[in-house]
Amino acid sequence: MQLMNESDRLFKEGWNTYQNIIANNYMFHREISDTVRTFLASHFGHQPLSLLDLGCGDASQTLEAFKESRIAFYHGCDLSEVALEHAHHSLALAGIESFLEKREMLECLSAEKRTYEVIFVSFALHHLDSEQKAEFFKLAHIRLKQNGLLILVDLARSPDEDRLAYLENYLGHAERHWPLLSEQQHAAIRQHAVAYDFPETVATYEALAKEAKFSEFLHLCKHTWHHALVFKS
Ligand SMILES: C[S@@+](CC[C@H](N)C(=O)[O-])C[C@H]1O[C@@H](n2cnc3c(N)ncnc32)[C@H](O)[C@@H]1O
Repeated sequence: MQLMNESDRLFKEGWNTYQNIIANNYMFHREISDTVRTFLASHFGHQPLSLLDLGCGDASQTLEAFKESRIAFYHGCDLSEVALEHAHHSLALAGIESFLEKREMLECLSAEKRTYEVIFVSFALHHLDSEQKAEFFKLAHIRLKQNGLLILVDLARSPDEDRLAYLENYLGHAERHWPLLSEQQHAAIRQHAVAYDFPETVATYEALAKEAKFSEFLHLCKHTWHHALVFKS
């Protein structure tokens, strides 16, 4: 029997907790999806879109945000095979032609030859370190069509928070305001955040995008530390 790889193990362990967080709207997925959906409708109308979804997970949140858009082609990548199996199922049910890859997002961007109307990355970019994030913006810019959009949904540190202060504030907030998670789930969230979460400030995301030659920046919404940002190619 093949041993489950690290990403699959983490995905499976975190899966139930993340589903609980979404069901209770603790990370404002509902408001963020609504905002992105309205923005996409006003920007693209019914134009067919090619979409590159990096760190796509099970693609369920992407399908929510894009449910009024016409996805003509969907390319998703994630480190977890298990996540991609869920994504495959949901996309097929929605009748969307898709290409799914088990790949790290920078590798996926580097190997990509196509260009896209939209690159979407939701609650995944904060796992990269600063250098990797800079590389991410450069590669994403190359892979967008003219007038294409990078949509970044993610955590961001407040301007006055370094990473340690952010972790204390965010995890403290979660412990006080996410009562429907078990103690064990809170402990797992803490462990995951300390090991893997490296959110930047919004100003840093904007600076990295400028450096990568994105022409325009829109701050679509902010709900505590959860943001939706748009960068025009
Ligand atoms: C919190 S989930 C978000 C999933 C989905 N995008 C959403 O918004 O619900 C983060 C996902 O990013 C994936 N991931 C983390 N780092 C990655 C990387 N460097 N390359 C590709 N996928 C990555 C994880 O496997 C996981 O499925």
